[in-house]
Amino acid sequence: MKPQSKVQVVLLTGGSSGIGAATARLLAENGMTVYSGSRRGTAGEPTEGIIPVRLDVNDEASCREAVSRIVEEQGRLDAVICNAGNGIYGPIEGTTDEETRYQFETCVFGSLKTIQACLPQMRKQGFGRIITVTSVMGILQLPYQGLYSSAKAALLSLSESLSMELRGTGIQCCSILPGDVATGFTAARTFTASSKEPDCPYREQMEKNLAQIEKDETTGMAPSAIGKAILRQLRRRKMSVRKIPRIDYKLVGFIVRILPEEWKIPILAKLYHA
Ligand SMILES: NC(=O)c1ccc[n+]([C@@H]2O[C@H](COP(=O)([O-])OP(=O)(O)OC[C@H]3O[C@@H](n4cnc5c(N)ncnc54)[C@H](OP(=O)(O)O)[C@@H]3O)[C@@H](O)[C@H]2O)c1
Repeated sequence: MKPQSKVQVVLLTGGSSGIGAATARLLAENGMTVYSGSRRGTAGEPTEGIIPVRLDVNDEASCREAVSRIVEEQGRLDAVICNAGNGIYGPIEGTTDEETRYQFETCVFGSLKTIQACLPQMRKQGFGRIITVTSVMGILQLPYQGLYSSAKAALLSLSESLSMELRGTGIQCCSILPGDVATGFTAARTFTASSKEPDCPYREQMEKNLAQIEKDETTGMAPSAIGKAILRQLRRRKMSVRKIPRIDYKLVGFIVRILPEEWKIPILAKLYHA
C-alpha cells in the first residue's frame, strides 16, 4: 500500500462537547472525515464530514469496534485525536483509590487503549498521526488538582516515549497542552468525597482555589482555538512533539521550565491558595 501523506480520515474521542466538538467541526470544514466518538454518541448539529460514534474509551472493545468500522468504511485511518477527558478535584490526602482510578481510567488508560486500537492500521499504512490532548497542567502541577495534573503528565510522558518508539514507521505523535478553555469541563468536574467533608482541613484554601480556577476556565479560550492548533499540526509534514496553544500559556510553560523548583512551589502555592 502506498503511504498516505495527507490526513483525511480521523478518529476523535470526546467529540460530544467542548474542545472535541469544536475540533471535529473545524476538521470537517477543512475537508476531513471525522468519526466523532463519545459515550453520548452525539456531535452537535449534523455536519457534513462528521460521523458521530458511540464510544467509551474505558471499554477496549468499544475502541476496537470504532477503528474496525472506520477501516471498513474508509479503508484507512490517518489520525487519532485522544481528547476524551474528565477532571476530579480535591486534596490528595483522603483521596480514595477508586477516585484515583476514575481520573486515570479515562485520561490515561482510555487514551492508551484508543491509541493501541489504532496502531495496527497505521502501521499497515505506513502513515499515522496521534494527537493527545493533555494540558498545561501536565507540566504545571497545581494544588487540589494533583490527580488531574498527574494523569495529564502521565499521558504527556507516554506520548513522548511513543514518538520515539515509532520513529521510522511514518507514524508521528504530538501532544497539545491547552491552558484554560471555556467548555463543559468545569460543570462536569467531580469532587473527591473527602473534599466535601465539613471538617476537611483544606476547606478555606480550597474554596478560594476553586473559585479562581472556575473563573479562569469560564473566561478561558474558545475551544476552537485548540481545534485550530490541532488542525495546524495535522497539516504539517512533521508534527511538533508538544504544542502549547497561545503565547501567554507558552510563556507560562517556558517560565515553569526555567524556574528552580524551590521558587516554583512557593510561588504557585501562593497564587493558587494552597
Ligand atoms: N477545558 C479546559 O480548560 C481544558 C484545559 C486543558 C485540557 N483540557 C482537556 O481537553 C479535553 C476535552 O475537554 P473539554 O474541556 O472539551 O471538556 P468537556 O466539554 O467536558 O468534554 C469532555 C469530552 O470527553 C468525553 N468523554 C468523557 N469520558 C469519556 C469516555 N469514557 N469515553 C468517551 N468520551 C468520553 C465527553 O463526552 P461523553 O460525556 O458524551 O462521553 C466529552 O465529549 C480533556 O481531555 C480535558 O482534560 C481541557
